[in-house]
Amino acid sequence: MTSPEPSHPLRIAVVCLGNICRSPMADVVLEQKLADAGLTDEIQVDSAGTGGWHRGEPMDPRAAAVLAERGYDPTRHHAQQITPAWFDNHDLILTMDASNFDDVAALARKPGDRAKIQMFRSYDPAATPGDDEVPDPWYGGAAGFELVLSVIERTADAIVAHAPQLARELSR
Ligand code: 4NP
Repeated sequence: MTSPEPSHPLRIAVVCLGNICRSPMADVVLEQKLADAGLTDEIQVDSAGTGGWHRGEPMDPRAAAVLAERGYDPTRHHAQQITPAWFDNHDLILTMDASNFDDVAALARKPGDRAKIQMFRSYDPAATPGDDEVPDPWYGGAAGFELVLSVIERTADAIVAHAPQLARELSR
C-alpha cells in the first residue's frame, strides 16, 4: 500500500538572531539545492530572526558576497522577525544556535509548537555534541562567512537527502 500524498508542501523556517547573515544564507542555499533536486513544489523555505532590528533590510554584504562567489543568488532577501504565528505556518523551525533555539522556544504557545523546533545542524553528518551550532559571523571577517557557508552547504545537502522522509513525517 502506498502512503497518502501530503496535503501541502513541507514548510521549513530557518532562524538566527538578525536574519541578515546565517539564516538568509541557509534559506538561499536550501532553496537552490531543493530546486536542483526538483523538490521546489514539495518543500518551501523561509527565514527569520528572533530580533527585529534589521526588519526589511537586505542580507549583510559579507554574506551576500560569499554566496555570490559560490554561485547563489543573494539579492531577493528582506529580513523578517519570527512571531508565534510562524508555528501555524511552518512544519519545522531550524535554529542556527542554542540561543536562537531558546528564544524561539520562548514563543511556543503549546507543546505542538515546541515540537517543531530543531537545531539546523541536527541534520549535519559532521556535527558533534560540542560542535552543533552555526557560529555567528557578524563580528568577524570574510573567513567566518566562508566557514558558515561550508557548514550550511553540507547540512543543506543532508536535509535535501532526507527530504522525502521529512515530508512523510511532518506534512499533514
Ligand atoms: P545573524 O547575525 O543572526 O546571523 O543574522 C547577526 C546579525 C545582526 C546582529 C547580530 C547577529 N546584530 O546584533 O544586529
